[in-house]
Amino acid sequence: MPTESRVSSTDPISAALQAAGGRARTYLRELTSRSVYPSDSAVAALAQFHEPFPEQPCHPADVVRMLDELGSPATVATAGSRYFGFVIGGTLPATLAASWLTSAWDQNSAFRVMSPVVAEIEEVVLRWVCEILGIPDDCEGGIVTCATAANFTALAAARQALLGRSGWNVADDGLFGAPPIEVVVGDEAHASVLKALNLAGFGQKRVIRVPTDAQGRMKSNLLPKLSRNSLVCIQAGNVNTGSFDPATDICRWGHESEAWVHVDGAFGLWAAASPKYRHLTAGFEMADSWATDAHKWPNANYDCGIVLVRDAAALRAAMTISAAYLQPGVKREPTNQTPDASRRARAVELWATLKSLGRQGLAELIERTCAHARRFATGLREAGYEVLNDVVINQVLVSFGAEEITQEVMRRVQKDGTCWCGGTVWQGKTAMRISVSSWATTEEDVEKSLAAILRIARQVRG
Ligand SMILES: Cc1ncc(COP(=O)(O)O)c(C=O)c1O
Repeated sequence: MPTESRVSSTDPISAALQAAGGRARTYLRELTSRSVYPSDSAVAALAQFHEPFPEQPCHPADVVRMLDELGSPATVATAGSRYFGFVIGGTLPATLAASWLTSAWDQNSAFRVMSPVVAEIEEVVLRWVCEILGIPDDCEGGIVTCATAANFTALAAARQALLGRSGWNVADDGLFGAPPIEVVVGDEAHASVLKALNLAGFGQKRVIRVPTDAQGRMKSNLLPKLSRNSLVCIQAGNVNTGSFDPATDICRWGHESEAWVHVDGAFGLWAAASPKYRHLTAGFEMADSWATDAHKWPNANYDCGIVLVRDAAALRAAMTISAAYLQPGVKREPTNQTPDASRRARAVELWATLKSLGRQGLAELIERTCAHARRFATGLREAGYEVLNDVVINQVLVSFGAEEITQEVMRRVQKDGTCWCGGTVWQGKTAMRISVSSWATTEEDVEKSLAAILRIARQVRG
């Protein structure tokens, strides 16, 4: 064991890490007192990045200094506690710290021989995810960049399995001339599922769309006749309303027909972690494949999409790579479950996230953010504004009246900087979306944000 550190305090690694550590701490400390969205002047100052490719090297500490001085003011405070746009969680302290350490490790996680530790931790954490989500623990899976990539990976496995039933090996022979697969989605399927269908060669327009109800749930009684050549994509957690498709009915019917059922559960599937909300995810465990994100509700850092597939052989057949210099070992190889080969040690960050939360912490995170969403909804309703959705989990849709009024409220909320909320159109009505997804949001943050939204809405409505 070396007794001395390899780096002295004056070497470039120490200097750079010291600079980054100090600046990162200051950045995070100041985050709650600054505007959630960057100022126009901070964004305008980004022009200074547009310099010619430098001739001379730059000291690492100076690289970090420039990044902080120019870049930090132009960031969106998604790591803070009052960002309610899209479905964006923060990064938990243990995750951030693990990310620093794993960056120092600099592991390539593609093959076990490149990083035994990451390969091992990936196996552990995928089992944990199956347990949390209530999915059979012999499912195979992988950690990809995002739910879009997870949807794609699962659909590629589905394609392999469904065509394989007709004796067609899509990995070898491609899709031209292959037997048809009938794809069924809900009218409210997330755009990423359509993109994944496009990438997997199914096409996003030749799908059968099943009508949905007022909350965006598929009407299961309107499902078409299914067969062993059918692929049905269902959703756990609508990006607007948070609603869940009726999985039990769809999966039962799908399986009677031997169809493949895929779940896009980018954030909603994590409701299974809470005894209070688990009932919403009932039936989804019966599906064949699942896509989710740990960088959303569980508050891992980016990129942490997760794909899980019941038919391990189909996933491996769709994703396996081989070359003379890439000799797989006898144990599971991370790259053979995902489209990507070289990648960061995402599994370790996911492990740190779940290890630090534990079962209890994860359940509390889910329940706390749902309670915050309900408080927003109650406060908005009491002030006379229309909440458009049943607030079943952490998503709230609010209309402040006519389209122009809601748009103006949203524009001013974003400019005001107390919090940040995005917009949408829900079943023809313009709405502001409030998605409470961060571990850092407190009751005080909710009250402060609600007060700002109501103040602005009153100003706009006169
Ligand atoms: C239901 C659903 N599916 C898929 C996605 C896409 O996630 P990602 O950006 O990680 O690809 C989202 C994003 O919010 C989502 O809500």
